[in-house]
Amino acid sequence: MCYAIPGKVKRFQDKFVIVDYFGEERRAYNELDDLSIGDYIYAQGGYAIQKIASDEAESILMTWKETFFELQEVDLQLSRMDLESKDLSLRVVGLLDKVNHGFSLKTDELEYILGLEDEKEKEFICKNANFLRQKYHKNACCVHGIIEISNRCARDCHYCGISTFNNNLIRYHMDADEIFAVAQKAVKEYSFKALVLQSGEECGYNTRELAGVISKIRRELGALVFISFGEISLEALDQYYQAGARGILLRFETSNEGLYNRLHPGGALARRIDLIRAADKRGYLVATGGLIGLPGATAHDIVNDALLAKELNAEMYSFGPFIPSHDTPLSQSFSVSPDYMRMVIALIRLVDPAKGKILVTTAFETLDPLARRQGLLCGANSVMLNVTPRRYRQLYSIYPGRAHQSQSIPEQIEETIVLLKSLGRAPTDLGI
Ligand code: 5AD
Repeated sequence: MCYAIPGKVKRFQDKFVIVDYFGEERRAYNELDDLSIGDYIYAQGGYAIQKIASDEAESILMTWKETFFELQEVDLQLSRMDLESKDLSLRVVGLLDKVNHGFSLKTDELEYILGLEDEKEKEFICKNANFLRQKYHKNACCVHGIIEISNRCARDCHYCGISTFNNNLIRYHMDADEIFAVAQKAVKEYSFKALVLQSGEECGYNTRELAGVISKIRRELGALVFISFGEISLEALDQYYQAGARGILLRFETSNEGLYNRLHPGGALARRIDLIRAADKRGYLVATGGLIGLPGATAHDIVNDALLAKELNAEMYSFGPFIPSHDTPLSQSFSVSPDYMRMVIALIRLVDPAKGKILVTTAFETLDPLARRQGLLCGANSVMLNVTPRRYRQLYSIYPGRAHQSQSIPEQIEETIVLLKSLGRAPTDLGI
């Protein structure tokens, strides 16, 4: 099983390396010091992360080559636009025309799209988003693994099932050796190339301890590491970067400051946004986004959320539906419909056709068992599999009934590969 295609180094360009994938050239930031022209590498998130022995790379490429072009063809068929489409209002046609010609839509135009009610028009927006995804990102779909290392949390976010509101939860905390062992299994046994380490906030690790694990994962396993520990200090941000972390997953949750303040006692939206900007400035790949359907949030807020994520230079958009969680102040609230969530994903693709990846979140899959397929067909091109040991997963209960909760890693992989193949997507990340 492989979640990245080996690329062959063609030439160097400043800090970048130009890599060939079946005749297509991509650029990846290079931090590997012993790389030469003709070597094979894996790239993830636009980073050259690992060198691979030529014979191993060539045998993987042989297997890939047979399916790669077939997959591309399937994807192309599925993402083709039906230009004959009728029954669309002139305004919708005009707005899509604008996006398809590379112009940005204004806030009120995006809001109009999100407010559409006509089923055919909504379907067309989703198709257009899929068309843009194919045009700019081709059929690559990244498959990251997430390890939930601790469910301890010091924050009292009103929606979150692992917040301090939940006194009925058994708390767990993996130690450094256990984190490494889980990462090792994900990389060595299941071939993951990028891992997200996630925990509640201020959950009891010290920075040195986590930096140690990150550096060991980077050094010994060669995986790209994303950190997702909530709001951390700038010093910690630096230390994790020095240890080798190159991505951060930190949602701003909502761009509406009033709503943010109501839901996060003692929190400050500006502080969170500043941290995301600081991470971007230091060179972290930024994965960010928010919760869709928080009580009190409007369509205007959601449009602003998408625009804010773009402004924050999102390499990956992580937007999921809010799902009411027991033992929290919002336990009696409601989620948005899967159909609305699909439109939000399409909207994000219209906001950022060319650069960021869009994740189909587990929360969306929890709302709708078909969400992964649906999401990938309306602009998304990324999924995350949960590689946390099963005994901990049910305790990482940010919301109830999480999809894939009890599936083993091989089962999740199998299901993902079958789906991606049926959609003509290659489970890979080809650099930029
Ligand atoms: N429903 C959906 N997502 C949630 N999160 C926290 N609580 C919920 C919920 N009830 C999300 C937050 C956080 C991420 C780790 O989990 O957006 O950033």
